[in-house]
Amino acid sequence: MSNNLLDCRSLTKDTIKRIMKKAANYKNDFINGRLRPELSGKTVFMLFLEPSTRTRCSFEMAIKRLGMIPINIYGSFSSITKGETLEDTILNLSKMHPSAFVIRHQDSGICCRLLDITDIPIVNAGDGTHAHPSQALLDLFTILEKKGTAKGLNVSIIGDILSSRVAKSDSELLTKMGCNVTLFGPATMLPERSYMPNVKIADSMKEAMSEKDVIILLRIQLERNSGGNISSLNEYHKHFGINQKLIERKTIIMHPGPFNRGVELSSDILKLDNIEIFNQVENGVFVRMAIFWWIISGGRKEK
Ligand code: CP
Repeated sequence: MSNNLLDCRSLTKDTIKRIMKKAANYKNDFINGRLRPELSGKTVFMLFLEPSTRTRCSFEMAIKRLGMIPINIYGSFSSITKGETLEDTILNLSKMHPSAFVIRHQDSGICCRLLDITDIPIVNAGDGTHAHPSQALLDLFTILEKKGTAKGLNVSIIGDILSSRVAKSDSELLTKMGCNVTLFGPATMLPERSYMPNVKIADSMKEAMSEKDVIILLRIQLERNSGGNISSLNEYHKHFGINQKLIERKTIIMHPGPFNRGVELSSDILKLDNIEIFNQVENGVFVRMAIFWWIISGGRKEK
């Protein structure tokens, strides 16, 4: 049976650790000018049927650094516009024998359902409000790089939690690796307290911000109709936005992107030493290379 990356819940700790180690090796090789075209000649279909900048380019960069060939399929230029379903698209493309599919789609859970259609490995690049596992893995990698360990770290995720696949995947992955995860945002954007075992909901911004090792900010998902859950973006910034004065020295600040200046964060924080947002983007490529190594070549143990 092939490996698939569908969500973080189904990843074992051993797999997560191996992906982290392999990504660190890829990063080290890149820094030292060593190329790693380990999967040369293989082909990956990329179906991004929802907008993306970071994730799509990062997967494409990872594919190329491994010597593979990416084939991009965009919704508006595909036969999906002629009424072909995603399921039939995957069924047809599978007959061309790619080594993997990378899929972003607005339907929550679509990648899991596609397993009934194809034996080709599937990488979920974000499906509706369900999961964004490669983002969570690169978030973990960035945290490990800065903090050395995940165990016992206090992590807050602040923003539009209810609509966020990143909040779900980060919560699943980080709690599994030993972090204490707290969520906060406007009451209309928070889930039930029973959202996930071992995940706490804060009662105030002060509680969400104080004595945290990591703060992960999220944008408001206007594309999922979240705008109606707040009175205005200005009001949001006043109550839930982050500025220099709110950040403690030991806390690193992360954001999956795209970020909105003047909403979840103010521009003044972007130059601070504890901002990891652009390191997340850099690390994303190495983590996605490691994901392909695990998916396509079975993730043999690293020495
Ligand atoms: N973090 C993330 O998923 O960004 P994109 O939507 O630009 O891919």
